[in-house]
Amino acid sequence: MAVSFSKITDVLGAEVDGVDIAAGVSETAMRDIVDLFNDYSILIFHNQKINDEQQIRFSRLFSEVGYFGGLEKTVVQNAGGGTEIADLSNVEPGTKRIIPPTDKRMVFNSGNEMWHTDSSFKRVPATASLLSGREVPPTGGETEFATERAAYADLSAAMRERIDPLVAIHDFAYNRSLIDPKLMNEEQKRETPPVPQAVVRANPANGRKNFYAGAHASHVRGMPLEEGRALLRELTAIATQPQYTLRHSWRDNDLVIWDNRCCLHRGRPWDKSRYRRVMYRTTVAGVGPTAE
Ligand code: OGA
Ligand code: MN
Repeated sequence: MAVSFSKITDVLGAEVDGVDIAAGVSETAMRDIVDLFNDYSILIFHNQKINDEQQIRFSRLFSEVGYFGGLEKTVVQNAGGGTEIADLSNVEPGTKRIIPPTDKRMVFNSGNEMWHTDSSFKRVPATASLLSGREVPPTGGETEFATERAAYADLSAAMRERIDPLVAIHDFAYNRSLIDPKLMNEEQKRETPPVPQAVVRANPANGRKNFYAGAHASHVRGMPLEEGRALLRELTAIATQPQYTLRHSWRDNDLVIWDNRCCLHRGRPWDKSRYRRVMYRTTVAGVGPTAE
Protein backbone atom coordinates (compact mmCIF):
# COMPACT_ATOMS: atom_id res chain seq x y z
CA MET A 1 0.00 0.00 0.00
CA ALA A 2 1.43 3.38 -0.99
CA VAL A 3 0.78 6.50 1.04
CA SER A 4 -1.31 9.05 -0.86
CA PHE A 5 -2.87 12.34 0.20
CA SER A 6 -5.05 15.28 -0.74
CA LYS A 7 -4.59 18.82 0.52
CA ILE A 8 -7.31 20.35 2.68
CA THR A 9 -6.72 24.13 2.46
CA ASP A 10 -4.12 26.24 0.65
CA VAL A 11 -2.07 26.64 3.82
CA LEU A 12 -2.60 23.57 5.98
CA GLY A 13 -3.90 20.06 6.27
CA ALA A 14 -3.84 16.82 4.28
CA GLU A 15 -6.10 13.79 4.29
CA VAL A 16 -3.90 10.72 4.11
CA ASP A 17 -4.78 7.39 2.51
CA GLY A 18 -3.05 4.06 2.05
CA VAL A 19 -2.22 3.59 5.73
CA ASP A 20 -3.57 0.88 8.07
CA ILE A 21 -2.29 1.80 11.50
CA ALA A 22 -3.70 -1.28 13.25
CA ALA A 23 -1.88 -3.56 10.78
CA GLY A 24 1.42 -1.72 11.27
CA VAL A 25 3.21 0.96 9.25
CA SER A 26 6.46 0.29 7.35
CA GLU A 27 9.51 2.48 7.74
CA THR A 28 9.11 3.73 4.15
CA ALA A 29 5.48 4.69 4.76
CA MET A 30 6.47 6.36 8.03
CA ARG A 31 9.05 8.49 6.26
CA ASP A 32 6.35 9.60 3.79
CA ILE A 33 4.08 10.46 6.72
CA VAL A 34 6.81 12.51 8.41
CA ASP A 35 7.42 14.41 5.13
CA LEU A 36 3.70 15.21 4.88
CA PHE A 37 3.69 16.23 8.53
CA ASN A 38 6.53 18.71 7.95
CA ASP A 39 4.79 20.16 4.87
CA TYR A 40 1.09 20.20 5.79
CA SER A 41 1.12 20.29 9.63
CA ILE A 42 -2.26 18.55 10.10
CA LEU A 43 -2.75 14.97 8.88
CA ILE A 44 -6.14 13.26 8.92
CA PHE A 45 -6.51 9.50 8.66
CA HIS A 46 -10.02 7.99 8.45
CA ASN A 47 -11.20 4.50 9.44
CA GLN A 48 -8.37 3.76 11.86
CA LYS A 49 -9.94 1.54 14.49
CA ILE A 50 -7.05 1.19 16.93
CA ASN A 51 -6.48 0.31 20.57
CA ASP A 52 -4.08 2.01 22.99
CA GLU A 53 -1.24 -0.35 22.21
CA GLN A 54 -1.54 0.15 18.44
CA GLN A 55 -1.69 3.91 18.90
CA ILE A 56 1.43 3.90 21.09
CA ARG A 57 3.32 1.64 18.67
CA PHE A 58 2.51 3.90 15.71
CA SER A 59 3.39 7.05 17.68
CA ARG A 60 6.78 5.63 18.65
CA LEU A 61 7.66 5.32 14.96
CA PHE A 62 8.22 9.08 14.78
CA SER A 63 11.35 8.76 16.88
CA GLU A 64 12.25 5.30 15.58
CA VAL A 65 12.63 6.56 12.01
CA GLY A 66 15.06 9.12 13.33
CA TYR A 67 13.08 12.26 14.06
CA PHE A 68 11.85 13.96 17.20
CA GLY A 69 11.88 12.82 20.81
CA GLY A 70 10.18 9.88 22.50
CA LEU A 71 6.62 9.76 23.76
CA GLU A 72 5.60 12.19 26.47
CA LYS A 73 4.16 10.98 29.71
CA THR A 74 1.05 12.75 30.97
CA VAL A 75 1.29 15.14 33.91
CA VAL A 76 1.50 12.96 37.03
CA GLN A 77 -0.83 15.10 39.11
CA ASN A 78 -3.69 14.64 36.66
CA ALA A 79 -6.12 11.73 36.97
CA GLY A 80 -4.55 8.79 35.14
CA GLY A 81 -1.24 10.68 34.88
CA GLY A 82 2.23 9.25 34.22
CA THR A 83 1.23 7.17 31.18
CA GLU A 84 2.06 7.40 27.47
CA ILE A 85 -1.57 7.82 26.48
CA ALA A 86 -3.83 10.62 27.69
CA ASP A 87 -7.52 9.91 28.17
CA LEU A 88 -9.46 13.01 27.11
CA SER A 89 -12.85 11.31 27.25
CA ASN A 90 -15.94 12.44 29.10
CA VAL A 91 -16.63 8.88 30.27
CA GLU A 92 -15.45 7.13 33.45
CA PRO A 93 -12.49 4.87 32.65
CA GLY A 94 -13.65 1.28 32.21
CA THR A 95 -17.34 2.20 31.91
CA LYS A 96 -19.45 4.08 29.41
CA ARG A 97 -20.89 6.39 32.05
CA ILE A 98 -20.71 10.10 31.20
CA ILE A 99 -18.72 12.24 33.64
CA PRO A 100 -20.80 15.31 34.60
CA PRO A 101 -19.50 18.49 32.90
CA THR A 102 -19.15 20.09 36.35
CA ASP A 103 -16.69 17.36 37.49
CA LYS A 104 -13.25 18.86 38.14
CA ARG A 105 -11.61 16.63 35.47
CA MET A 106 -13.97 18.00 32.83
CA VAL A 107 -13.51 21.60 33.97
CA PHE A 108 -9.75 21.05 33.79
CA ASN A 109 -9.99 19.60 30.26
CA SER A 110 -12.20 22.49 29.14
CA GLY A 111 -8.88 24.39 28.96
CA ASN A 112 -8.45 22.56 25.63
CA GLU A 113 -11.13 24.86 24.24
CA MET A 114 -8.68 27.78 24.31
CA TRP A 115 -6.33 28.09 21.30
CA HIS A 116 -3.13 26.41 22.48
CA THR A 117 -0.20 24.22 21.51
CA ASP A 118 0.40 21.04 23.48
CA SER A 119 3.01 20.98 26.22
CA SER A 120 4.40 24.43 25.45
CA PHE A 121 4.49 24.68 29.26
CA LYS A 122 7.20 21.99 29.31
CA ARG A 123 10.89 22.81 28.89
CA VAL A 124 10.94 20.53 25.83
CA PRO A 125 7.57 21.09 24.19
CA ALA A 126 5.64 18.59 22.06
CA THR A 127 6.30 18.08 18.38
CA ALA A 128 3.37 15.91 17.30
CA SER A 129 0.08 15.05 18.95
CA LEU A 130 -1.91 12.06 17.72
CA LEU A 131 -5.58 12.13 18.67
CA SER A 132 -7.75 9.09 18.13
CA GLY A 133 -11.50 9.67 18.08
CA ARG A 134 -12.90 6.35 19.26
CA GLU A 135 -16.51 7.54 19.76
CA VAL A 136 -17.47 11.04 18.74
CA PRO A 137 -20.63 13.10 19.30
CA PRO A 138 -23.05 13.41 16.35
CA THR A 139 -22.76 17.18 16.51
CA GLY A 140 -20.27 19.60 18.08
CA GLY A 141 -16.93 18.58 19.56
CA GLU A 142 -14.98 19.53 16.44
CA THR A 143 -11.28 20.34 16.66
CA GLU A 144 -9.97 23.48 14.99
CA PHE A 145 -6.41 24.13 13.84
CA ALA A 146 -4.54 27.34 12.98
CA THR A 147 -1.21 27.71 11.20
CA GLU A 148 1.25 30.15 12.75
CA ARG A 149 3.51 29.49 9.74
CA ALA A 150 1.33 31.05 7.04
CA ALA A 151 0.40 33.76 9.56
CA TYR A 152 4.08 34.54 10.19
CA ALA A 153 4.81 34.70 6.46
CA ASP A 154 2.06 37.32 6.05
CA LEU A 155 3.33 39.58 8.88
CA SER A 156 4.98 42.87 7.94
CA ALA A 157 8.77 42.78 7.80
CA ALA A 158 8.84 45.19 10.75
CA MET A 159 6.69 42.87 12.87
CA ARG A 160 8.81 39.85 11.96
CA GLU A 161 11.95 41.72 12.99
CA ARG A 162 10.32 42.80 16.22
CA ILE A 163 9.32 39.31 17.30
CA ASP A 164 12.23 37.26 15.91
CA PRO A 165 14.53 37.60 18.96
CA LEU A 166 11.83 37.40 21.67
CA VAL A 167 11.43 34.73 24.31
CA ALA A 168 8.03 34.06 25.88
CA ILE A 169 7.29 32.54 29.27
CA HIS A 170 4.76 29.71 29.04
CA ASP A 171 2.98 28.83 32.25
CA PHE A 172 0.34 26.10 32.66
CA ALA A 173 -0.76 27.41 36.07
CA TYR A 174 -1.35 30.87 34.57
CA ASN A 175 -3.38 29.24 31.81
CA ARG A 176 -5.60 27.14 34.05
CA SER A 177 -6.05 30.11 36.41
CA LEU A 178 -7.96 31.74 33.54
CA ILE A 179 -10.65 29.10 34.12
CA ASP A 180 -10.47 29.15 37.92
CA PRO A 181 -7.57 30.31 40.12
CA LYS A 182 -8.20 27.35 42.45
CA LEU A 183 -8.17 24.67 39.74
CA MET A 184 -4.54 23.68 40.35
CA ASN A 185 -3.14 22.93 43.78
CA GLU A 186 0.39 23.85 44.89
CA GLU A 187 1.76 20.39 44.10
CA GLN A 188 0.40 20.57 40.54
CA LYS A 189 1.87 24.03 40.10
CA ARG A 190 5.27 22.82 41.28
CA GLU A 191 5.19 20.05 38.68
CA THR A 192 4.80 22.57 35.83
CA PRO A 193 6.88 25.67 36.62
CA PRO A 194 6.98 28.47 34.00
CA VAL A 195 9.39 27.82 31.09
CA PRO A 196 10.99 29.92 28.34
CA GLN A 197 10.05 29.31 24.68
CA ALA A 198 11.24 31.03 21.52
CA VAL A 199 8.57 33.29 20.03
CA VAL A 200 9.78 32.45 16.52
CA ARG A 201 10.84 28.96 15.48
CA ALA A 202 11.95 27.30 12.26
CA ASN A 203 11.22 23.75 11.12
CA PRO A 204 14.66 22.11 10.85
CA ALA A 205 13.54 19.93 7.90
CA ASN A 206 12.49 22.78 5.59
CA GLY A 207 13.62 26.00 7.28
CA ARG A 208 10.09 27.45 7.28
CA LYS A 209 9.54 29.87 10.16
CA ASN A 210 6.54 30.51 12.35
CA PHE A 211 5.62 32.29 15.52
CA TYR A 212 4.74 30.24 18.58
CA ALA A 213 2.04 31.66 20.84
CA GLY A 214 -1.22 30.25 22.28
CA ALA A 215 -2.97 30.22 25.63
CA HIS A 216 -0.10 28.86 27.74
CA ALA A 217 2.09 31.82 26.73
CA SER A 218 1.90 34.21 29.66
CA HIS A 219 4.24 37.09 28.85
CA VAL A 220 7.46 38.09 27.10
CA ARG A 221 10.80 38.05 28.89
CA GLY A 222 12.25 41.53 29.35
CA MET A 223 9.00 43.30 28.41
CA PRO A 224 6.43 44.80 30.79
CA LEU A 225 3.98 42.01 31.64
CA GLU A 226 0.85 43.56 30.12
CA GLU A 227 2.67 44.65 26.97
CA GLY A 228 4.10 41.17 26.37
CA ARG A 229 0.79 39.55 27.16
CA ALA A 230 -0.98 41.84 24.67
CA LEU A 231 1.58 41.00 21.97
CA LEU A 232 1.15 37.26 22.47
CA ARG A 233 -2.65 37.64 22.41
CA GLU A 234 -2.33 39.63 19.19
CA LEU A 235 -0.23 36.89 17.56
CA THR A 236 -2.76 34.24 18.59
CA ALA A 237 -5.58 36.41 17.21
CA ILE A 238 -3.73 36.85 13.90
CA ALA A 239 -3.12 33.11 13.43
CA THR A 240 -6.70 32.16 14.23
CA GLN A 241 -8.29 34.21 11.45
CA PRO A 242 -10.33 32.13 8.98
CA GLN A 243 -7.72 32.09 6.21
CA TYR A 244 -5.25 30.28 8.50
CA THR A 245 -7.59 27.78 10.11
CA LEU A 246 -9.36 24.52 9.44
CA ARG A 247 -12.11 22.78 11.35
CA HIS A 248 -12.14 19.02 11.68
CA SER A 249 -15.57 17.43 12.19
CA TRP A 250 -14.84 14.03 13.67
CA ARG A 251 -16.07 10.67 12.44
CA ASP A 252 -15.63 7.59 14.60
CA ASN A 253 -12.11 6.15 14.23
CA ASP A 254 -10.45 9.22 12.76
CA LEU A 255 -6.85 9.68 13.79
CA VAL A 256 -5.53 13.22 13.52
CA ILE A 257 -1.90 14.25 13.86
CA TRP A 258 -0.91 17.87 14.32
CA ASP A 259 2.37 19.75 14.43
CA ASN A 260 2.55 21.58 17.75
CA ARG A 261 5.70 23.41 16.68
CA CYS A 262 3.82 25.61 14.21
CA CYS A 263 0.08 25.18 14.82
CA LEU A 264 -2.49 26.06 17.43
CA HIS A 265 -5.58 23.99 18.07
CA ARG A 266 -8.69 24.05 20.19
CA GLY A 267 -11.58 21.71 20.90
CA ARG A 268 -15.11 22.98 20.36
CA PRO A 269 -17.91 22.47 22.88
CA TRP A 270 -20.59 19.82 22.51
CA ASP A 271 -23.58 18.69 24.57
CA LYS A 272 -21.39 17.15 27.25
CA SER A 273 -24.05 15.78 29.52
CA ARG A 274 -25.75 14.03 26.59
CA TYR A 275 -23.07 12.68 24.23
CA ARG A 276 -19.97 10.61 24.81
CA ARG A 277 -16.74 11.83 23.28
CA VAL A 278 -14.08 9.17 23.68
CA MET A 279 -10.67 10.46 22.63
CA TYR A 280 -7.15 9.27 23.36
CA ARG A 281 -3.98 11.21 22.71
CA THR A 282 -0.34 10.24 22.38
CA THR A 283 2.28 12.96 22.19
CA VAL A 284 5.71 12.94 20.57
CA ALA A 285 8.17 15.19 22.40
CA GLY A 286 10.54 17.64 20.77
CA VAL A 287 14.30 17.14 20.62
CA GLY A 288 15.29 19.95 23.00
CA PRO A 289 14.38 23.31 24.51
CA THR A 290 13.49 26.14 22.09
CA ALA A 291 15.12 28.86 24.24
CA GLU A 292 17.61 29.19 27.08
C1 OGA B 1 -5.69 17.78 22.78
C2 OGA B 1 -6.72 18.79 22.58
C3 OGA B 1 -8.89 19.14 21.59
C4 OGA B 1 -10.06 18.28 21.30
O1 OGA B 1 -6.00 16.59 22.65
O2 OGA B 1 -4.54 18.16 23.03
O3 OGA B 1 -6.49 19.94 22.80
O4 OGA B 1 -10.79 18.63 20.35
N1 OGA B 1 -7.87 18.32 22.10
O5 OGA B 1 -10.25 17.29 21.99
MN1 MN C 1 -4.27 20.18 23.09
